[in-house]
Amino acid sequence: MLVAMILITGATGTIGSLVLSALRQHGAEVRTMTRDPERLAATSALSAEQIVRGDLDQPESLPAALAGVDTVFLLTAFGPRLPEQEQNLVAAATTAGVQRIVKLSAISTGEDPTGTRPADWHLPGEQAVRGSGLAWTVLRPAGFASNALQWAESVRAGLPVPNTSGTGAQGVVDPRDVAEVATAALLSPEHDGTVYTLTGPETLSVPDQTAVLAAELDRPVPVVEVDLATVRQQMLAAGMDESIVKVTEYGLDQFRRGDADFVTDDVQRVLGRPALSFAAWVREHRAAFENGD
Ligand SMILES: NC(=O)c1ccc[n+]([C@@H]2O[C@H](COP(=O)([O-])OP(=O)(O)OC[C@H]3O[C@@H](n4cnc5c(N)ncnc54)[C@H](OP(=O)(O)O)[C@@H]3O)[C@@H](O)[C@H]2O)c1
Repeated sequence: MLVAMILITGATGTIGSLVLSALRQHGAEVRTMTRDPERLAATSALSAEQIVRGDLDQPESLPAALAGVDTVFLLTAFGPRLPEQEQNLVAAATTAGVQRIVKLSAISTGEDPTGTRPADWHLPGEQAVRGSGLAWTVLRPAGFASNALQWAESVRAGLPVPNTSGTGAQGVVDPRDVAEVATAALLSPEHDGTVYTLTGPETLSVPDQTAVLAAELDRPVPVVEVDLATVRQQMLAAGMDESIVKVTEYGLDQFRRGDADFVTDDVQRVLGRPALSFAAWVREHRAAFENGD
């Protein structure tokens, strides 16, 4: 029997690196794709055969990455290039004879698309995957618990955490749960043809999350409210692309109105255990928030 080869795109990022570890623990045959193989080789224990150079913006780089691959984990960096990049990958995978794609998407994708929400960038890729004729699974996670690392510098310095989403709450999900569900879908046909919406066990606003941080760190974690006009100004001043500023602003507005204020039991259904809590994630990462004195 041929050994199935799984290609992991986004293997150097938050979710992809966890998918890589989980697949290796299962003894799966893996290949990782990156734009910078030398950097990955220098920072991992992967063999040269397990690393391939590939750029989703360069379709000509994809056939070599996909040669002999049976299953693909498709993860693309958030941004306006995402739809075309995913379409490039799906076209190349179909030509290369890939059998299954597991695509990382985002919560609320496909629901009343306006073309102006962050999740709308995932819709063309979802449509390409679902219309490819290959076996597929789509994962739509809520906001990652690891986004809280953006606050680490402020928390270490005792400065307030900026709250750009008011009282808007979401089912903050642990990246480990996202990666474990992805791994299950990559390894078993049981999940083919399914869209999973992945959330944590409860919805949390930014003040709820900082309260969890404060309890775990045993010191106050203050919050400062930031309105949308200020967020927009700050993003533009930081040189962010206008298209990213626009969808981020729209997404934050929807979020403030409670767009993502729900949880699902999809993590439990796939993994057979409850989703991990934000408090559990903080306990694993508390060193990032402590200043070491
Ligand atoms: N953060 C959240 O709360 C959240 C919630 C729901 C969904 N999502 C979705 O999750 C995805 C991001 O996941 P993540 O946080 O794990 O990613 P990440 O840590 O930002 O890593 C991005 C990865 O994309 C790769 N990449 C970037 N441009 C590429 C290109 N042109 N060709 C090939 N690879 C490229 C990078 O690899 P190299 O640099 O090594 O090439 C890197 O491994 C996005 O699609 C986002 O919409 C995020």
